[in-house]
Amino acid sequence: MPSDLTVIVLAAGGGTRMKSGTAKVLHEIGGRSMVGHVLTAVRALEPTRIVAVVGHQRDQVGPHIQSLAPEVTLAVQEEQHGTGHAVRIAMDSLAGSPGTTTGTVIVAAGDTPLLRGDTLRDFASEHEAAQCAVSVLSGVVGEPHGYGRIVRNDEGDVEAIVEEKDATPVQREIAEISSGILAFDAAFLVESLPRLGNDNAKGEYYLTDVVGLARDAGLAVGAFPIDDVMQTEGVNDRLQLANLGRELNRRTLEGWMREGVTVMDPATTWVDSGVRLAPDVTLLPGVQLLGATVVGTHTVIGPDSTLKDCEIGRHARVVRSHAELAVIEDQASVGPFAYLRPGTTLGQGGKIGTFVETKNARIGDGAKVPHLSYVGDADIGAGTNIGAGTIFANYDGTNKHHTTVGKGAKTGANNTFVAPVTIGDGAMTGGGAVVRRDVPPGALAVSGGPQRNLEGRSHVRREPPTAPDAPHVEDAAAGGGES
Ligand code: UD1
Ligand code: CA
Repeated sequence: MPSDLTVIVLAAGGGTRMKSGTAKVLHEIGGRSMVGHVLTAVRALEPTRIVAVVGHQRDQVGPHIQSLAPEVTLAVQEEQHGTGHAVRIAMDSLAGSPGTTTGTVIVAAGDTPLLRGDTLRDFASEHEAAQCAVSVLSGVVGEPHGYGRIVRNDEGDVEAIVEEKDATPVQREIAEISSGILAFDAAFLVESLPRLGNDNAKGEYYLTDVVGLARDAGLAVGAFPIDDVMQTEGVNDRLQLANLGRELNRRTLEGWMREGVTVMDPATTWVDSGVRLAPDVTLLPGVQLLGATVVGTHTVIGPDSTLKDCEIGRHARVVRSHAELAVIEDQASVGPFAYLRPGTTLGQGGKIGTFVETKNARIGDGAKVPHLSYVGDADIGAGTNIGAGTIFANYDGTNKHHTTVGKGAKTGANNTFVAPVTIGDGAMTGGGAVVRRDVPPGALAVSGGPQRNLEGRSHVRREPPTAPDAPHVEDAAAGGGES
């Protein structure tokens, strides 16, 4: 039977180097906040409880965490006196509730977005199997500057974690660093936290000092190195944000390629963590799939398309288009150069073509809006064809109104449908029609006066224009010779 597992996520720090009005852990990569990525990893462990420590900009951070993971308990650290202080506040917030002084406590930071759930799970099992009082997830890095170093004795046992600012020159040469992710025996942690001091270079209560306390008590301390150190890398500034963002995307694309997705140019293709792709999807260069977008098998997206929170069926085609909160059903085609705004649904085999904007529009199976049109607040029935250059005039200056076009209708080029208006099944409209009144099923609507030809009234000269004079010889010479 698994023992009690408490996970503490530290998210109270300031993030000064981001130079941002947005709290550091709320900055996004892969379409999800950094703390959102950490919570996803933590939740995969199915811990008994999760506590998040918030402080700086907690009016932003707290509600964000609770919207993503309502089961998380928030603990407030008004002033940041170090990681040991933060964990003490977290444990104090649990005091009295059953099970919080048994089992394992894992501490992670909220700014390590590449962290994975299986890494945390493996670490927790190693810690528990070795029966350690404290364990650290460590890593061997080329550039250890800034990290706490893992100090081992001649037997290889961990003696201490020494922070950069407190380290001797010899200790600074150590390449094995603390990732900041630690595991504790809960009872030992609770008893150690009040004993931490702040007599160090930063004047902070270091959580890492619990290692020394465990050694003094003759208890086992473990350091388990992770090969994939990027998983524990934190973000402190915008450069690291971009680097980890690119790396996350690279990993996401690699995952999808292994699942049978073709990505022609991974360097220009961006896929958010929440996107789902079927095997045999093809992504051409310059594609961004964002939010909760889902794409069905044999669909080809791109080049140069952005789809956010869209649902795309199978065997569909999207070329050089931008879409948000739209549904594109099987075999449908979009673009090139279409703009699908929220509430657009394109039925099976339907088409939204070139230079077409749609919004809150349900376009039926096999229906087509091929060229140069605006379709707002409309239903278009199955099999209907909308003529080139049609405007669904949905706005009267005060209110938005709806247009319904029935099934199997065929509307002329350059029409304006002045909503609210209904065009019946199988109806037709003439070229240039301005449709203000309902068109009954099967009727042909025409509008505008009959054409008049006014003989001889054209201002255009009928003789072809004469060729312009050849340039003067002097001009050619001044121009520096022959062209
Ligand atoms: C910490 C570790 C260091 C490790 C490094 C890995 C300590 C003393 N040091 O150093 O060994 O190599 O992480 O990145 O633990 N936080 C709070 N409240 C506080 C202080 C910090 O919530 O009072 C949060 C921060 O927001 C951050 C995390 O704890 O998410 C780590 O704090 P930070 O100050 O960045 O610690 P480091 O100096 O990087
Ligand atoms: Ca840090």
